[in-house]
Amino acid sequence: MTKRQAEIFALLEPVEWTADVGCDHGVLSLEMLTTNRSRFVLATDISAPSLDKTVNLIKQKGLLDRAVFACCDGLPVDACVNQILIAGMGGNEIVNILSHFFEQNDTRPILVLQPMRDYGKVRKFLNLAGYKIIIDRIIFDKKYYLLLKAVVGEQKLGAQELAFGAIKDSYGEIDYQRWLDEKIAKTEFILAKMSKKEAKYKNLVQFLQNCKDLKGRN
Ligand SMILES: C[S@@+](CC[C@H](N)C(=O)[O-])C[C@H]1O[C@@H](n2cnc3c(N)ncnc32)[C@H](O)[C@@H]1O
Repeated sequence: MTKRQAEIFALLEPVEWTADVGCDHGVLSLEMLTTNRSRFVLATDISAPSLDKTVNLIKQKGLLDRAVFACCDGLPVDACVNQILIAGMGGNEIVNILSHFFEQNDTRPILVLQPMRDYGKVRKFLNLAGYKIIIDRIIFDKKYYLLLKAVVGEQKLGAQELAFGAIKDSYGEIDYQRWLDEKIAKTEFILAKMSKKEAKYKNLVQFLQNCKDLKGRN
């Protein structure tokens, strides 16, 4: 496993059933089964060739009796799982998959998510869907990744937490501070080339200031 995959894996709870949505290579599904982190896995992917990679990997290891596969958008609405993992997809896509699932399924599994972008939208959606974010961290593995874990519970994050993370203690972590450095550098670069009249200019200036505040700079 890569460092990113290992960090995602560490967030998974030991359960009966985990859905690995967008399973692709199947590394995480396989790890869940071989370590008994999940007794059964529902592995899904919208792409048949991607899903085949998981099927073949699990078949090679003789674990087909503990896995169910679905080539579909998101996960089957009648899926009965204790935990849902969605890693490596855009935030909007994750929100669409989960909202579609919650519209038709009353269960509220543990969620382990690794959105590639639109972090704030995912956090907001989780709160509105009756979830409390309990892990919200940035990790570095060749690039920066956000890891989220959420369980059923009440939480109403404020604007800063929606944009920068639900768990303020995580702001002090080294990878988080370096992620802020990267955000500051990128935003300064964009602002330097942008006209002050552009609609986004003011928002970016505010974002830059917020990043600097979190770095303890002014
Ligand atoms: C970048 S890979 C991530 C693989 C793995 N989850 C990981 O994090 O290492 C994204 C996978 O999600 C699949 N995917 C994208 N949109 C999907 C959707 N709406 N439903 C199911 N799978 C989807 C893609 O086909 C691809 O295999």
